[in-house]
Amino acid sequence: MSDQLVQIGGHGRGFGATTRADNWWIGPTLTFLGLSAFIVYASWAGMQGAYYWADPYLSPMYAPLLFVDPSAPGSAPLDHAWFGEFPSWWYALDGVLPGLPKRALTTPAALILIFPAAFRLTCYYYRKAYYRAFALTPPACAVQGIREGKYRGETHLLLFQNLHRYALYFALVFIVILAYDALVSFFKDGQFGIGVGSIVQTINAILLAGYTFGCHSLRHLIGGRKNWMTCDGGKASTHHRLWLGCSRLNGKHMLWAWLSLFWVGFTDFYIRMVSMGVITDLNTWD
Ligand code: FES
Repeated sequence: MSDQLVQIGGHGRGFGATTRADNWWIGPTLTFLGLSAFIVYASWAGMQGAYYWADPYLSPMYAPLLFVDPSAPGSAPLDHAWFGEFPSWWYALDGVLPGLPKRALTTPAALILIFPAAFRLTCYYYRKAYYRAFALTPPACAVQGIREGKYRGETHLLLFQNLHRYALYFALVFIVILAYDALVSFFKDGQFGIGVGSIVQTINAILLAGYTFGCHSLRHLIGGRKNWMTCDGGKASTHHRLWLGCSRLNGKHMLWAWLSLFWVGFTDFYIRMVSMGVITDLNTWD
């Protein structure tokens, strides 16, 4: 064995040192590209403050719609906002940070994106993903990262990750709101119908529910703190069934995480394109 391959915990010293012979770098590279693309798109879309509404569709990046700026193109009607129009002082924030486009700080998305962002940021799966792909500490199993030192886990700077269980409570509320928005997307001017946008919004709510209901914290909340679960005549109790369902989703949590992430971006993109008149929504109303 060469000098460089001084074995510490099964791998050599120096960034990227490993005895692995597979293409371990593909996973972190794809993760880096995928998450970067989503962060760039979501930031851009959230800062637009416009074209997030195409009757009866509402972009999930703007839901729940607390306030609206009715002067923005492609904005939802006033009566779709929980609290109506933004208070007048809100518009003064525009231009506070030079270089940002108009409405970048006064967009309705600015009020709500922190909740899904916090949920994803502290998700057990995403932690693994971005620790590896962005922080490279380490980039993969049995591969030396950029830092060599004592492993301190999530005890100091990363202690905030423990907030995940609280972010979950908000995420559960968001699922109800997005499910309601998906339902509303089947009604235009009070008339039932189906459009491509209705289907896109419904899939979005389902994928986000699959991701959220498979959350590790939710699984713990349902059954992780119990030493046993009661059974009724050999049949699983409701409680046990809920825990089994959550566990089943949890087993594919990474898949749900990626599918729901992609679909949120796609849903916003689709509604934005319809709102801007770039594409025509196929539906039963027109
Ligand atoms: S662990 Fe991923 S959403 Fe909770």
